[in-house]
Amino acid sequence: MNPEPWLFTYEDFAPEREGLREALCTLGNGYFATRGAAPESHADGTHYPGTYLAGGYNRLTTDLSGQVVENEDLVNMPNWLPLTFRLEGEDWFDLRAVTPLEYRQVLDLARGLLLRTVRFVDARGRRTRLEQRRFVHMRDKHLAGQEMVLVPENWSGQVRVRSALDGRVINAGVPRYQRLQGRHLRTLVAEEVDAQTLLLEVETVQSRLTVAEAARTRLFVEGAPAEHSRELLKEEGYVAHEFTVSLTEGQRLAVEKVVTLYSSRDHAVSEAAMEARHAARTAPERFEDLVSTHAQAWTHLWRRADLTLELAEPNGTHRVLRLHIFHLLQTVSPHSIDQDVGVPARGWHGEAYRGHIFWDELFIFPFLNLRLPALTRAILRYRHRRLPQARQAAREAGHPGAMFPWQSGSNGREESQSLHLNPRSGRWVADVTSLQRHINAAIAYNIWQYYQATADSEFLYFHGAEMLLELSRFWASMAQWNPALKRYEIKGVMGPDEYHTGYPDRAEPGLDNNTYTNLMAVWVLCKGLKVLRLLPAERLQELRETLRLEDSELAHWDEVSRRMRLVFHADGMLSQFEGYEQLQEFDWEGYRARYKDIHRLDRILEAEGDTPNRYKLSKQADVLMLFYLLSAEELRELLERLGYRMEPEMIGRTVEYYLQRTSHGSTLSGVVHAWVLARRDRAASWRLFSEVLHSDISDVQGGTTQEGIHLGAMAGSVDLIQRAYTGIEVRGGMLHFNPYLPEELRRLRFSLRYHKHLVDVDITPDTLRLTGLWSDQEPALDVCVRGKCLRLPPHETRTIPLGP
Ligand code: BGC
Repeated sequence: MNPEPWLFTYEDFAPEREGLREALCTLGNGYFATRGAAPESHADGTHYPGTYLAGGYNRLTTDLSGQVVENEDLVNMPNWLPLTFRLEGEDWFDLRAVTPLEYRQVLDLARGLLLRTVRFVDARGRRTRLEQRRFVHMRDKHLAGQEMVLVPENWSGQVRVRSALDGRVINAGVPRYQRLQGRHLRTLVAEEVDAQTLLLEVETVQSRLTVAEAARTRLFVEGAPAEHSRELLKEEGYVAHEFTVSLTEGQRLAVEKVVTLYSSRDHAVSEAAMEARHAARTAPERFEDLVSTHAQAWTHLWRRADLTLELAEPNGTHRVLRLHIFHLLQTVSPHSIDQDVGVPARGWHGEAYRGHIFWDELFIFPFLNLRLPALTRAILRYRHRRLPQARQAAREAGHPGAMFPWQSGSNGREESQSLHLNPRSGRWVADVTSLQRHINAAIAYNIWQYYQATADSEFLYFHGAEMLLELSRFWASMAQWNPALKRYEIKGVMGPDEYHTGYPDRAEPGLDNNTYTNLMAVWVLCKGLKVLRLLPAERLQELRETLRLEDSELAHWDEVSRRMRLVFHADGMLSQFEGYEQLQEFDWEGYRARYKDIHRLDRILEAEGDTPNRYKLSKQADVLMLFYLLSAEELRELLERLGYRMEPEMIGRTVEYYLQRTSHGSTLSGVVHAWVLARRDRAASWRLFSEVLHSDISDVQGGTTQEGIHLGAMAGSVDLIQRAYTGIEVRGGMLHFNPYLPEELRRLRFSLRYHKHLVDVDITPDTLRLTGLWSDQEPALDVCVRGKCLRLPPHETRTIPLGP
């Protein structure tokens, strides 16, 4: 196996890119994640060590010149990384104070390890080799570990080693949030447990979430326990062990730090600190044993999640796709199944968007549905548990049913901020993005897609149908009858394009008849009606009784789903919203010339005292989301149901029109556009796909990745390969293929899960080979390749020629 597509290697230390690398080298296991900060570092403008517990939120209020704002943040938990050293007569190790002879940092995707090697010479001419390894254990979610190896190359003498747990951290990872309160933790316990073990227990000040970390540090010289002296250091929120050990030239000192992390929200625990202490004491003896069980867990995950590519020209594509899968699985993993967590837009990798959950799962679930559907199910349950809050929110807005928040955190209330800072102008601006009610279509869509991919009728029975019905109810109520037009309308909302928040001449924010919202509302109502036919009679009756769902209400849903208004331009093109056609064209050329980077036109225009609301421009795909989510056939059926017609050639014109007017201010934008171009213009699609691939590794949004990865774009890029170019669709109880590989792709292999079947898929430009990998217990699988159906029995292979 060529190791290269599994390794990310950095050959230098570049302070200006360290924040980005820390985000990209984050290690996590779905339960907690720790940024790839150097173990000797602290938050100093270059480094930002951060450890985040999945779903570990806390709320704080800040007085912003008289306006009190409350924010719920993903809390930066105590830093377990500190493990460093000083050579006799020198200060504590600082890369900037020595002369590096060799520097290498490697993220090993196959084994989930972060490695760093530094050879350096200090002011006294002593040459030392330093090797570090780190993991966040993928099998035992409470474990993490670090190893530090020191070899004196040309000297003998004393080394002092410090291993600490640091709870003095605050949330300061996002410069834009710096004026907001960031002190979330209070220390409960900081103590020495025994000669090797430290304990730190903290509590979040508002949510009262207790987190305990224990660290066991052991020293070995030439593989045998080392003679050393020990000292304990304690400060408020901080506890450390310092060990002094003597080394002779060429001897190998290995320091092994095993850390355990528990919280008061865990299952099967008595009390967090007690568990952390106990787990640290009983963890396997040696670091190497932990590495091997950890790496094995990753091997098992990769078997389910990997894809192999052969490219016409080998380049970094394969590696980046794996990096994206890697970060997805570190954010949501089999450990998520037993937790109450959603999938955060920026991973548990940083503090951007405060760890909140948006609609981005729409771009993430399609990959999981066909690989690890149990994860989708777990994350959908995060929504279901918050159904009472969503019902309450709908009621407060004057609607029946359920209205989920645009940004969700701990308990499912709306967590969108009320003000945000435009770093360009320095002004705090009202944030009305929570008007993106379309999240309530995304959740319905996700439930439906999960069901299509898995046929999990139990999920539908207990959770899915209830949510779909409550969402249908909400959308039917959002639609208001316009007697003059004899159509239903949805007013005062925002579409996915966050640059349009309202009309320039209207005080109230929000737009009318956003096409994406209106049509997806119709889609939800159709599925709401359909799910009634899928439920067994007794459950249907139960739900209709509990929700008081009368025939008249269902008839109303049907009526709305046939008479929703869509707004078209004069030439018959779908308009982004009512009034869009009358907006001014934007001076793209002029702005490109004036500003190097025009991704964030909202900030640029606000700083100029202008607003995007006046122009035909968008941050990201809006109308085109429809072509991303719905097949051409489905879209045609929906339009017909509404009594509208769209000539097939109009799709191409619509794509062209909106693509030209999009600044791609969200990394999600490239995913959607690459998708809608996949069959229309393969070269353009591949170009956009390549841009999505670079979103995070090259930090195309200019400084945002260091605050957290963009998980939607990461998963979306993998899904472009998995579904867009293979034409895989799950609908109507059938698995469909319609491959159309870009020229750059010579071959693609992966195995997918569909209902109870596991299928090996092997695609070249000329053939599609499908192999049934499931057991004889399950029947053959009917699949459709370019509209022709065939039967695939278990353990057999079918090779289907793919003509041009
Ligand atoms: C995008 C949203 C997205 C959010 C979180 C915003 O920039 O406009 O569509 O949900 O980021 O990723």
